[in-house]
Amino acid sequence: MNAQPASSTGVSPVLHERDARGTSAPEQMDLVVVGHVDHGKSTLIGRLMADTGSLPLGKLEQVKALCARNARPFEYAFLLDALKNEQTQGITIDTARCFFKTPRRYYIIHDAPGHVEFLKNMVTGAARAEAALLLIDAHEGIQENTKRHGYILSMLGLRQVAVLVNKMDLVGYSQPVFNLITQEYSEFLAGLGVRPARFIPIAAREGVNIVTLSQPMPWYAGPSVLEQVESFTKMSGDQDRPLRLPVQDVYKFTEAEDERRTIAGTIDTGTLRAGDEVLFLPSGKKSTVKTIEAFSAENPREATAGQAVGLTLTEQIYVRPGELLVRRSDPPARVGTRFRANIFWMGRAPMLPGKRYKLKLGAARVPVELAEIRNVLDASELTSIRGKRQVDRHDVGECVFETARPVAFDLAAECEKTARFVIVDNYEIAGCGMVLEQVSAEESLLAKQVHRREITWQKGHVTPAERAAQYHHKGKFVVVVGEPHPGLPQLAKQLESRLFREGVHTYYLSLSNVFDCLGGTDESSPLAHEEQLRRLGELARLVTDAGLVFITALENADQHDLAKLKLLNEPHELFVVCRGDETPGSFPVNVQLSPKQDQDEAIQAVLQALKDQGVTPDYSI
Ligand code: GTP
Ligand code: MG
Repeated sequence: MNAQPASSTGVSPVLHERDARGTSAPEQMDLVVVGHVDHGKSTLIGRLMADTGSLPLGKLEQVKALCARNARPFEYAFLLDALKNEQTQGITIDTARCFFKTPRRYYIIHDAPGHVEFLKNMVTGAARAEAALLLIDAHEGIQENTKRHGYILSMLGLRQVAVLVNKMDLVGYSQPVFNLITQEYSEFLAGLGVRPARFIPIAAREGVNIVTLSQPMPWYAGPSVLEQVESFTKMSGDQDRPLRLPVQDVYKFTEAEDERRTIAGTIDTGTLRAGDEVLFLPSGKKSTVKTIEAFSAENPREATAGQAVGLTLTEQIYVRPGELLVRRSDPPARVGTRFRANIFWMGRAPMLPGKRYKLKLGAARVPVELAEIRNVLDASELTSIRGKRQVDRHDVGECVFETARPVAFDLAAECEKTARFVIVDNYEIAGCGMVLEQVSAEESLLAKQVHRREITWQKGHVTPAERAAQYHHKGKFVVVVGEPHPGLPQLAKQLESRLFREGVHTYYLSLSNVFDCLGGTDESSPLAHEEQLRRLGELARLVTDAGLVFITALENADQHDLAKLKLLNEPHELFVVCRGDETPGSFPVNVQLSPKQDQDEAIQAVLQALKDQGVTPDYSI
């Protein structure tokens, strides 16, 4: 195919953007251009815009004339600067993006600056790209950043990559130089699992092999840059993939009798339809989509990848923000606390095992620890440094991570969108990565901790059996769970009073008191909930060990919360009271109370169950 430059209509880039948003607009593709400082990114972009006739009418001449007046040699890169200042219809052009068009498509091109500091913008998703052009200066050869960019493209899941060997004029358009770079860099990329579609020798400044092939390199018979770009396939497949919708927010409307909840988020992949049977992960809760909400008049029947939506369900289940909504008939996402991942570390402080970080994966925010370093690569040399105990800035680590509670994710090979995550250290994005594999853990970090605690526990001489005999009841951790309602803590408190009157040594503690009395972490932090639970579990271990019936109420607890408390309370046991229609997932419940039961009936039922299960004696003292 020989690409035809579009006629120079002088359509402004801003108009391109607006057209591209229209319904009947031609296809749009996002490209990212990366490369080491000064390897020619801006020149290439300027060339592509000029040679495809995508510049506003007269712009090229204007910039050339300005250069001539100032006795400066004209640079195509100046076009980009000139466009930045351009005010077209009152809108300033986005500094990081440019546009060019062909009869086939509109291209949005992201100029990712070559400097290391800017990598952060790229890896944090500032560049949403479907394909990448990676520039190497033929004269300077492969530089540190050239390698880093290769790594990052692979981590961003970019599979459509063309490597442009630029400034061929500086090496006399030499085929051996081109071949050498091609060989060296393709070997490097192969190690990362990236197979570039093509290596193209170019001279961006001279316009050689940019739009059409030209004279100086008769030995090159492949496509020009534009032809290559035109042959990239549009990654529109997102909407046909399994449904993945991270739940950002849950809004509750309590007008009159209405208990409606709207679940809000942006669809990562797939298409959501009213009537879909869906599953929330990691909680495992199931429901059916009743409506898809729209701000404007009519509710749509479906919504697709990239769209922000609100939806309502047929059953009013409680869902927490941070869950991942999937369709029950689609391949499920994975749920777990351990995974192996590649991580690119940008933090000023190194990433250390045992330190707590925050993981952002989809809409989930959970505490995470580096459980194991399998390998560390120096991102420029890609030489592996085995046995390293930390991941330093600009290192790429292959690591195993463990989260404080289960998260839902996909693997990079399955769906890069829901495999991608970032790690926050001290409020800053310090690392980004992709999940490669789910790892099963014989023992979680928390279980190891509890195990250690039990081994080293200094016991007194009084045994639990002696305590139980003296107190006439066993020590137990009673957790009252259910939907948020003032009646829930009330139930727990009244239970404490009734047991106390029956001579049971008992103590009620609200989860919020754990913060009030212990202080410490920032309550608004997403890590707070996990830390609160951990402290509550440790306290429960002490109080039940002392032979008391320790009572708390937990709103919206799921099976993972209860599993955590159970683990922390070991070797003692949990006694779960559940009020409401919803059970905490698969976690066994000791007493299920109907929401219709009044408080007195509910208390009676719990007291009876405690007796039946031998916690309290079958008589009152
Ligand atoms: P940063 O944005 O600073 O990372 O640089 P860049 O990659 O955008 O490079 P830019 O396009 O600004 O080009 C850097 C210099 O290389 C400019 O002086 C260009 O004129 C020059 N240059 C670009 N392409 C070619 C080429 O094909 N041949 C020669 N000889 N010089 C080129
Ligand atoms: Mg530049």
